Amino acid sequence: MTPQATYHFPRGFLWGTATAAHQVEGNNTNNQWWKWEQEGHTNGTSGLACDWWGGRWREDFDRAAEAGQNAHRFSVEWSRIQPTPDQWDETALEKYRSMLRGLRERGMTAMVTLHHFTDPIWLTEVGGWETDEVVKRFERFVRKTVEALKEYTNLWCTINEPNGYALNGYVGGVGDWPPGKRNLKLGFQVMANLIRGHAAAYHVIHQLQPEARVGFALNYRDFQPLHSWSPLDRIVTANTFNGVMAAFPSALATGVMSYPLGKISIPEAKGTQDYFGFNYYTRNFVTFDLRFPNRLFARDLYAPNDDLSGSGFLANVPESMFTGLKWVVRTFPNLPIIVSENGVESADDRIRPRYIAQHVHQMWRAVNFNWPIKGYFHWSLVDNFEWDAGWKYRFGLWGLDVETQKRIKRPSVDLYAAICKENGLSSEMVQKYCPEVFEKIFPG
Ligand code: FCB
Repeated sequence: MTPQATYHFPRGFLWGTATAAHQVEGNNTNNQWWKWEQEGHTNGTSGLACDWWGGRWREDFDRAAEAGQNAHRFSVEWSRIQPTPDQWDETALEKYRSMLRGLRERGMTAMVTLHHFTDPIWLTEVGGWETDEVVKRFERFVRKTVEALKEYTNLWCTINEPNGYALNGYVGGVGDWPPGKRNLKLGFQVMANLIRGHAAAYHVIHQLQPEARVGFALNYRDFQPLHSWSPLDRIVTANTFNGVMAAFPSALATGVMSYPLGKISIPEAKGTQDYFGFNYYTRNFVTFDLRFPNRLFARDLYAPNDDLSGSGFLANVPESMFTGLKWVVRTFPNLPIIVSENGVESADDRIRPRYIAQHVHQMWRAVNFNWPIKGYFHWSLVDNFEWDAGWKYRFGLWGLDVETQKRIKRPSVDLYAAICKENGLSSEMVQKYCPEVFEKIFPG
């Protein structure tokens, strides 16, 4: 007999989707990504994106609310709020306030990211995150923004995936991101400034809003040595893990950034995390390769039998989400955890239903160890502009016809809606949407 069961989540669990300003707003002409796109580095340009700046956030928030989501994570665009160093755009802030009101009216909790990969062009012209003067500049922007928006939210994510920002922009290889430099040492300097920026933001937010919950979002990857018998594979894996991934959160715990090339003391960062923002997508194997000196001789790859996404960008390895959550709980005890992103690119929605169900299942296992997981934000609500990959990768529950702005409902919408409404995952849902993994999730 097939088992009938429901894996429930704690009351008040947040179920939502995540987006980022540049990826959905459209016409973000004043940041470094727009410029990068015009220079031809990306697969298409962001253009109108999902036209949220033109007001289509309303219809997308309606979709999210109707589909049972009780939360949404979005980001604000620094270059809109502060178009030049000595100018604030109050209408831009007012627009973000109306989006936040829009969420409130729909009964949804808002999580606001203050920096999601984009920088105003004026900032890049004075050194971006390469010089520590950015810390004061970021702090000013955060103060202004939080003052304007704090009426509507107290859940803040300072910086999205600082490790991704530093790695892709200064080491490259995975994608080609602005500023497109190849300088590992400079990459770590940027990382240190991102830590300082986070710390300054943390303190200013708490000054303005004592009850705020402030964190950042880490791009967690489960890195495994390709050949566990190889000491070289093990060393480069450890360097990748500790240097690229763990350096940032460890600095917030200890006040010291330790990385493969040294240590930097950043005392003001100590204790500046109220929750752990955990973005998880995939697992990578890592192997020693002399052709990658700039990546500390580490090359990463997927296994031949991995369950790969539509264009092969990600592997569906749900157990690694559990591994990651375990690492967070053990390394950073007592911090609530928010799964701030998780999702997969799949234009035809072939892999997405099982990806969702299997990851929700692993998260449920984690919750049952009493690990303090408070919410889950699926990436993403609707297809959006995927950085260097442009429109190639489709991460939305809803598809987007970029030409017409038409939204196309994928089957995953109904699966995720069922999970959100039930506050759990049932055997019936799995039977209906992804029977191919039924045995894995509900072993008889
Ligand atoms: C994450 C980013 C997000 C999106 C997804 C697919 O690394 O935070 O903006 O690009 O990947």
